[in-house]
Amino acid sequence: MSLFRTKPLSTLLAQADEKGGLKRTLRWPGLVALGIGAIIGAGIFVRTAAAAGQNAGPSVTLSFIVAAIGCAFAGLCYAEFAAMIPVAGSAYTYAYVTMGELVAWVIGWALILEYALGAATLSIAWTEYFNQLFPDLIPWAWRHSPLQTGPGGVHGIVNGPAVLILLVLTLLLIKGTSESAIVNAIIVAVKVTIVIMIIALGWQFIRPENHTPFLLPADSTHEGFFKHGWGGVLGGAGVVFFAFIGFDAVSTAAQETIDPGKNMPIGIMGSLAVCTVLYILFSWVLTGVSPSADFVDPNKGMEASVAYAIKTYMTGYGWLATLVTVAILAGFSSVMLVMLLGQSRVFYSMAKDGLLPRLFSEVHPTFRTPYKCNAVLYFFVAAIGGFLPGDITGNLTSIGTLFAFVLVSLGVWILRRKSPNQARPFRTPLVPLVPILGMVVCGLMIIGLDSTTQLAALVWMAIGLAVYFLYAKGHSNLSEPELGASLPAEAGD
Ligand code: ALA
Repeated sequence: MSLFRTKPLSTLLAQADEKGGLKRTLRWPGLVALGIGAIIGAGIFVRTAAAAGQNAGPSVTLSFIVAAIGCAFAGLCYAEFAAMIPVAGSAYTYAYVTMGELVAWVIGWALILEYALGAATLSIAWTEYFNQLFPDLIPWAWRHSPLQTGPGGVHGIVNGPAVLILLVLTLLLIKGTSESAIVNAIIVAVKVTIVIMIIALGWQFIRPENHTPFLLPADSTHEGFFKHGWGGVLGGAGVVFFAFIGFDAVSTAAQETIDPGKNMPIGIMGSLAVCTVLYILFSWVLTGVSPSADFVDPNKGMEASVAYAIKTYMTGYGWLATLVTVAILAGFSSVMLVMLLGQSRVFYSMAKDGLLPRLFSEVHPTFRTPYKCNAVLYFFVAAIGGFLPGDITGNLTSIGTLFAFVLVSLGVWILRRKSPNQARPFRTPLVPLVPILGMVVCGLMIIGLDSTTQLAALVWMAIGLAVYFLYAKGHSNLSEPELGASLPAEAGD
């Protein structure tokens, strides 16, 4: 049986309509809220300052534009797929009908980096801000991973708050998507309001000298191609790319969306557009209010950079720093929620296809959610959030997502050639130019990431391949001859 066996589109669409599947409750406003809920998080509140300090200085604003361009190209490709194949599973599912089972598996495995490690990264960042608000509540060792050493040589034991916040959110998801969407909508409103307040109130504190020179000059701490100048803009784009991760999570809710042909593209591109505008303005204000050098100084704004900039440079706005911290806690929760939702939907699809054990696709009789999948996922994500530091998980989240974006862009191009007559409720414009540009821009951001991350991603993928050949390949539904024989023929295939 070929490694490049593809799953017929008609089978996918039939699965989407199966009785006993997921409930369809979402329209485009819900999807845009879902998108913004997934997008605005640790990226803007933490990674902006890191990119400004380490790679790009004030030109981090340009880094955001580069990252947004890559996301827009990939987003247009996601929209075509999500409208055409409204089945839970996102990039994984699209690859299954275009590039075959092995590539689909590879993407599914990469999406674990995006969603599960993304959620874990957020839970770790959540703890940091939680500690800001209640500095003496939890002993140091019980809010840090065993791989971290603190003041006086104390070793971390477990990141307790991360484990707990993940538990609360998992229970919310098990109860149901619809309820989760309402909670999410409230948090999204708070989050967007806070970002707009920072932009509006911070604007008057912008000092032009902080924006000069606009590109970081090379010096002893900014050696290397991706650490200064125009190279730094690209290196910074790879870092702040984390801030855009999540808009593709909208597509994982396709199976719960009413009229996905209309609502999916608006949901994906709408949430991306709103966040891009906010990010450009926000990064301009942040780097104008505070010198970028402060963001690499452990005694200044290296941590909790936004709260630091407000407290230090925006005289009279101390209350805003506290408000921002509270909003960040809520905002990070909404990001984790969508990441966990996205991951459970990808696992759900992979299990439906036989590539993962059946328990991942079992739907709760009352809540109609994949509750067993959510429960197993919780232990996996909580183990990472509880026992690993955030740096490694954060960068791996970025690289896994960029990789998936490259393959999705390629997939649109392939399917246009392979099934040109397939009905497409939304068409990516200018194919193959847009998919090629998506692959190039996202590929460049992968190259701009550090070599440790690139190596770790390769190791992760090697493990994934081993699991595929030892388990998934033999258990795949496509391995069952009687099922394969009964599938209807695909027009254009
Ligand atoms: N985009 C999400 C964030 O910034 C992952 O937290």
